Formats: sequence, C-alpha cells, structure tokens
Amino acid sequence: MQDIIQQLEEKRDKARLGGGEPRIEAQHKKGKLTARERIELLLDPGSFEEWDMFVGHRCTDFGMEEQTIPGDGVVTGYGTVNGRLIFVFSQDFTVFGGSLSEAHAEKICKVMDQAMKVGAPVIGLNDSGGARIQEGVASLAGYAEVFQRNVLASGVVPQISMIMGPCAGGAVYSPAMTDFIFMVKDSSYMFVTGPDVVKTVTHEEVTHEELGGAETHTGKSGVADKAFENDMEALLYLRRFIDYLPANNKEKPPVRSTPDPASRVEMSLDTLVPDNPNKPYDMKELITKMVDEGDFFELQPEYAGNIIIGFGRVEGQTVGIVANQPMVLAGCLDISSSIKAARFVRFCDCFNIPIVTLVDVPGFMPGTAQEYGGIIKHGAKLLFAFAEATVPKITVITRKAYGGAYDVMSSKHLRGDVNFAWPSAEIAVMGPKGAVEIIFRSDIGDTEKIEQRTEEYRQRFANPFIAGHRGFIDDVIMPHNTRMRVARSLRMLRDKKLENPWKKHANIPL
Ligand code: HXC
Repeated sequence: MQDIIQQLEEKRDKARLGGGEPRIEAQHKKGKLTARERIELLLDPGSFEEWDMFVGHRCTDFGMEEQTIPGDGVVTGYGTVNGRLIFVFSQDFTVFGGSLSEAHAEKICKVMDQAMKVGAPVIGLNDSGGARIQEGVASLAGYAEVFQRNVLASGVVPQISMIMGPCAGGAVYSPAMTDFIFMVKDSSYMFVTGPDVVKTVTHEEVTHEELGGAETHTGKSGVADKAFENDMEALLYLRRFIDYLPANNKEKPPVRSTPDPASRVEMSLDTLVPDNPNKPYDMKELITKMVDEGDFFELQPEYAGNIIIGFGRVEGQTVGIVANQPMVLAGCLDISSSIKAARFVRFCDCFNIPIVTLVDVPGFMPGTAQEYGGIIKHGAKLLFAFAEATVPKITVITRKAYGGAYDVMSSKHLRGDVNFAWPSAEIAVMGPKGAVEIIFRSDIGDTEKIEQRTEEYRQRFANPFIAGHRGFIDDVIMPHNTRMRVARSLRMLRDKKLENPWKKHANIPL
C-alpha cells in the first residue's frame, strides 16, 4: 500500500509540474502565472477539487507517443469563490503551448457538462496556441464540442473567459460565445488570423499587440469587456465580478449586506444637470451616487463611451445599469453603443438581474457612416433587447429623451415597470431648435421669430409633464432622492412575474 501511495504522489507531482521547470520559468519571465497558480488565486484557498489530472493525449503521430504529459495541457475541476461553487478550466501553456488536443477538449467538456447539471458558472482561463497541430481534425472536433456546449450553456449558467495568453484562429470563438471576455494587458491577444497571414493577404504590417491585444479589443473592436494590468489583478477582479452574478438562470443574484442606507439623499444631484441643455455632465456621478457604497463595476469602459454599462448593487441586490453618457457624442445612440448595451441587457434578462436605465439621449446618431453601417438593424438590437426583457425595469430620465431613442431606452411602452423623470427632463420628438426649423420652415431667416418659437416649443414640450400627464412617466422625482426611489421600486418588483409568449426563440436582428 505504501508503494502505491508513493506512486500516486509521484504521479501527482509529475502532473503538477506540467511542461517542467524551464517552461514554468519561461512563463514567469513573460510576467505570466502558471495554470495552477492562476486557479489558486481565483478560488478560495484549499477549495479546488481537480479532475482528470492523469488524462493524457492519444496521439501517435510525429513522435507524440514519446511525449505524454499528465493532464494534457489543461487543469480542470471546481472550487468556490467567496463560498460559491464555480467550475474552472485553466490552460497550461507549458504543455505543448496549451494547445487543444482531443483529450484536452474532453476535459473542458466534462466540467462544462457538470456545471450545467448542477447549475454553476464556468470560468475559462485561456492561454493556448490553439488546435494541437499534431492531432489534426481530432483537435478541431474537440473545439467544436466545446463550442456546442458554449451555446447550450448560454443563458443557463454564466460563462466567463479570461484571456491570459494567446488565443488565435477558430479558438477565439469559444470565448466569443461566452458572456464576458476579460484580457490581461501586454500578455494576451486574440485574432482570427495572425500578423503573418494578414501581411500575406492584405499587405498590412501589424504587431500581435496591435492586431489583437487588450487595448485593441477593449477600445477598438469591443470584443473584450475589460483589461487588467497583470494576472494577479485580473483574477482578483474576477473574484469580485462573480459576486454580482447568480449561479444559473433559475436563481437570483446573491444579496450582499451593506451599511449604505437606501434612504441616503444626495443633494449634489440637484445641480448635476447644467442649466444649458447643450452642456454635458458626467452620468457616472449619478451612477456612483445611486448604487451601494459608490461601487460600480463598469464593463467596456473604453468602448462606445456614449453608453455606460455595468453592475452595481442597490440594497445589496445586483442591478445592471445602462446609461447614456452626455460627455461622449452628447449621449447619442450609434451602432457601437446600441450593440454594447443590447448584449448587456440580454445578459441581465437571462440571469434575473433587474435593469436600471438612466436616460439622457438626444437621439440616434445621424450620418452616412451610421446609415451605411446599418444603424437601423443595430439600433433595433437595443430596442429588441429592452422590449424582450422581463426582469424588473426601472428608468430615470435625467434630461433629454428625444425621438425614437426615448422609446428605445426602456420606456413605459416597452414594459418599463417604473419610469421616473427628473424635473429637468425634456421628453419630446426632437430638440426645440430642430422641431421649430421643421414645423415653421417658412420663418427660417427671421431670427427673432425662430427664437421666439423655439422658446415657445421649449416651454411647451421640453419638460416631463406632458409624458407625466399621459402616465408614461410614473412620477417626477427630486434628483437627490433618486437612490431612495429606485430602491423602493426594486423592492416592490422583487417578485415580479412576467413571461413572453411561447416560442422556440425570438429572431433578434443580428
Ligand atoms: C502543438 C504547439 C502549438 C500548437 C504552440 N505549440 N502551439 N504545439 N500545437 N498549436 C508548442 C510549440 O511547439 C512549443 O513547443 C511550445 O508550444 C511553446 O510555443 P512557442 O512557439 O515556443 O511559444 P511562443 O514563442 O510564446 O509562441 C506562442 C504561439 C506560437 C504564438 C502560440 O507557438 C504559435 O504560433 N503556435 C501556433 C499557433 C497556431 O497556428 N495554432 C493553430 C491555430 S488554428 P516546444 O516543445 O518547442 O516548447 C486553430 C484552429 C482552431 O487553432 C479551430 C477551431 C475551430
């Protein structure tokens, strides 16, 4: 027996060493942690239960039968984050560059299948050279098995991808189908074809970093939700992030106790909106003053800044926040911001997270770039997402809510549960100047007359009371009470039940 125990320990030690000391050292030299070090940081101490440590590949081509490393380049299993169950796979770059073999894929699929059975999130720590080249189509099949599971798990359990090294070729599509993608700056990249292929095909010269680094995907493409400075920061933020989410689509998000009273008033909000309707102000100030302890986890902060999305809590309960940002493009809705917010709204709706929408929107962005780019279809995504959502929906209009964008931004007509406006709200078909120039076209040129009519229009329409008169606004609230009024509404809506008509699935304009 002692011998067998000894053998087990030796086998475990071998597996724990992955690709061996020199490769571990090389990994550290690149500023990267190993697959196991990452899991240790992510999970609660001592909670990791590893599976399939002794799995090896089955490849016999290219001399591979001589090179079997137990675990085959991915560490898998489950553990807890702040006491809550999480399934995890962490690719080990020290073993064949973390490349995905048939066996490696089977290990990932096993944790995904189990996560689905018990209803717990799956976190993937990606660091891989892609399909194991020596295995050919068997590794492609392995990827497709993972893809299929990503799709079936979508909307059932949260799936999060942390990109901590290379992620290239078709391999990018597994993270792309998960709910959130985070990246580590300077050490991770994602692209469908690398710089060499790009050079051959399009003659563009581009580095790995420029083509698919964290800055590119958080700032230019919008593929990634957030970037972190290094592995350690990334994993610690990931622990914080998971705390906002429920374990699955049948549960509510965890409630965290807070010393911050729901009744807290914020007098400074009464002067947040400037007197001049064309002057911007920072919507983030309202968000941080509304949520518990000013704690707001913003997603995609560097992308489509004209809309803000992220998670906060009110009375300890997670809320998804969608807010126009007047500081960027005057808060207009354009293609990028519509897509960004639509996907977030759908995530919240999948996972029972109430949505608080803060509105200051002058409309959809005009121009050929937007029209040729398909703003009609992309703007419709956000409209569709809000209209389809059955979770509690609370809307606060702080200033402009013009035209179609008024309808889109979780209006009463899209089953908004509670729709508030600040006294500064202007709910109308368009801004006063634009409106007057259309309905009094014959007066154009007569500056005095136009100014007089504009002022008349402003007095008549640029306020929340016409919408209030029709019941499209439930109440006009004092800005300083926003937190309290939102908190009460959320409390009232805690057991809201609403179902959409039965269908196989809707056909959101993709
Ligand atoms: C087998 C691989 C591998 C792979 C890397 N390695 N990628 N082995 N299959 N895909 C091995 C290397 O041979 C090397 O082994 C070790 O991992 C480390 O790799 P290095 O090249 O030394 O590391 P580095 O310089 O950091 O470069 C990392 C890299 C590069 C940029 C990822 O290895 C690379 O370009 N790999 C190939 C990437 C690729 O084309 N993959 C296929 C993509 S297509 P030794 O023994 O020397 O240490 C794809 C299709 C998916 O993935 C389709 C899904 C539908």
